[in-house]
Amino acid sequence: MVAGAVLEPGRLLLAQRRYPPEVAGKWELPGGKAEPGESPEAALRRELAEEIGVSVTVGAALRESVALRDDLMMIALRARIEAGVPHPAEHEALQWVDAAQLRAMLDAGRLVPADTVWVPELLADLGP
Ligand code: C5P
Repeated sequence: MVAGAVLEPGRLLLAQRRYPPEVAGKWELPGGKAEPGESPEAALRRELAEEIGVSVTVGAALRESVALRDDLMMIALRARIEAGVPHPAEHEALQWVDAAQLRAMLDAGRLVPADTVWVPELLADLGP
């Protein structure tokens, strides 16, 4: 699994999940599963095109990774929009957040639990 930290100066794109019930309504870094033989970078570009309707340049990975299951790791890659305006094709909604908003969403339990490991790194990227 590869998730995208879509960043612009001072803000990060979050996507609100529709399913499964335990995380429906919570916010995540959008992304998905790599197909056989597909690199994480290519998988993220494809998933963000499908889910958000943007083409991105993929940058450095976040340091943390998450074990979703024994056999399924999730990494996050930074990404920058090259073309397109984000649109929620598969999510309930999209939202740009700054550092204060991200921290408030973490504190309020509004993020998908697995994605909370990335918040410290994302806050550092976003600045004050
Ligand atoms: O997006 P998709 O349905 O393929 O995600 C599969 C699983 O990965 C879900 O159970 C979801 O909770 C988890 N996931 C996550 N954080 C993300 C993306 C997916 O925890 N950013």
